[in-house]
Amino acid sequence: MEDLEVASLLYREPGFYAEMTDAAAPKIAASIAAVVRLYGPIDAVSVLDVGCGTGAILEQLAKTYSHAVGVDLLPGMVEVASEKRAHLDVRCGDMRTARLGEVFEVVVCVGNALSYMIRDQDVTAAFATFAKHCVPAGLLLIQTLTDFPKIGVTKESVALVAGRTAKATVNYRVDPDGALVTNRTWDFGDGQVEQDRIRRRVLPMTELSNFAAAAGFRPADWPEPMPGGVAAFVKHTGA
Ligand SMILES: C[S@@+](CC[C@H](N)C(=O)[O-])C[C@H]1O[C@@H](n2cnc3c(N)ncnc32)[C@H](O)[C@@H]1O
Repeated sequence: MEDLEVASLLYREPGFYAEMTDAAAPKIAASIAAVVRLYGPIDAVSVLDVGCGTGAILEQLAKTYSHAVGVDLLPGMVEVASEKRAHLDVRCGDMRTARLGEVFEVVVCVGNALSYMIRDQDVTAAFATFAKHCVPAGLLLIQTLTDFPKIGVTKESVALVAGRTAKATVNYRVDPDGALVTNRTWDFGDGQVEQDRIRRRVLPMTELSNFAAAAGFRPADWPEPMPGGVAAFVKHTGA
């Protein structure tokens, strides 16, 4: 896997990540809770957030699910989560190998965290982790990249980063192995320019469902579109 810690300004400076994403967390957590209400388990009390970042969504989920645990690969993200949200249980771990020794009724992996699994064996290992931590008939919720963005088009936007305005310039290309490469430049206008190069995998819904099926999950009978673009899978009771 790529050296994620240096791939993006928001991972090099997890405080920036928190600042830019905290506001969206209540809405995302509400979407997750809505899907759990649709597909069960009824009266779920436990949730595992895999790739939880700085813990903003977990913090919201913890208001609904009394036993809430988060896992993230990057120590910097876990550190910010622990500092900002000391009441949360957030641990360092790799979604391919983490084994917490307990099961949860709801397992979530959102915010494109799964997209960092580039090779088939990485995706398979991540799904094995999801299965290992999900109760039979439990729900797995995934929000990841399922479509390619427009390749070769450069997009510009203005972002507020740590109280400073930055011009963000983004373009995408596809590597020979099919991985999506995001090249992003942050120009703070005072001489500071930051470069990101992020490699991720796009998993169309059919492929995502195949990986889920191989790990013992079947797609929930969702009406389209799912709230928040979340894909829901139910773990087989025999798995
Ligand atoms: C864009 S952030 C999303 C964070 C959070 N889920 C959210 O929606 O705000 C993606 C997260 O996935 C984490 N991640 C990437 N690869 C991982 C792995 N192998 N195991 C656990 N977490 C991973 C990154 O460290 C990062 O915090």
